[in-house]
Amino acid sequence: MWVVGTLMEIVIRTDYGAISDEAFRIVEGEVARRPALVVGLATGRTPLGLYERWAASKRSFKRARFFNLDEFVGLGPEHAGSFHRTLRERLLAPLRVPPRNVFLLRGDVKDPDKAAAAYEKVLRAAGGIDLQILGVGRNGHIGFNEPGSSLGSRTRTKTLTDETRAAHAEAFGSMDRVPRFAITMGIGTILEARYVVLLASGEEKAQVVRRMIEGPVTAEVPGSALQLHPRATAVLDEAAASALARRDYWKWVAENKWRVGQ
Ligand code: F6R
Repeated sequence: MWVVGTLMEIVIRTDYGAISDEAFRIVEGEVARRPALVVGLATGRTPLGLYERWAASKRSFKRARFFNLDEFVGLGPEHAGSFHRTLRERLLAPLRVPPRNVFLLRGDVKDPDKAAAAYEKVLRAAGGIDLQILGVGRNGHIGFNEPGSSLGSRTRTKTLTDETRAAHAEAFGSMDRVPRFAITMGIGTILEARYVVLLASGEEKAQVVRRMIEGPVTAEVPGSALQLHPRATAVLDEAAASALARRDYWKWVAENKWRVGQ
């Protein structure tokens, strides 16, 4: 791994297709090194391009194990709005991942906090996450760790902000139908992943990307906790990177890192 001036590696690509290509290149590299990779999957819109490429891959991911980052409380795996269903349909079924290698949080459990604690145990037994895929909410959340979440938090239930519920309204038909609670890996859980790859696309993410990468580490911007991570890469398209003060620096660094040691 090659480390830049801050702890996060910043990769800027032209558009959404290009960041999806880049993220898939990273996934392929990681699984080539370690076929029994333990992967943590975000849902939301941003990683869908990556999952499309991944699902079409000829490489076998049969030995990899898959966890999800979060799920809406109350939704079963068949619910059209559940992350469970999205991940199964978009990635896990096309890849033919054996069920024994799939560990997805369920929203339709009786006691979500108990399920969250059990999930942490299963995760530990699997040896922890090797590669965590993340998106970022416009309010800075990673997973469903809304602003103000403890930077040391573990998997647990969280109350969603109205901003987050509004962002999901389309998938549910209206904001009223979006669940108020979610189970999410905590920020502490995410920080324990060995490698974190965060994707962000579009102008609507530009301000939060700037705060997350160039602002102070603060629970007010949960994604900023990644500045503490020893191996994190942010893969951004030009629009999402457009508010970075050091955008040209990051680009120069990414294009010239081969010079180190020349
Ligand atoms: C999804 C998740 C969320 C999303 C974030 C961005 O599993 O945990 O943190 O990554 O809300 O969502 P999109 O990609 O739809 O903009």
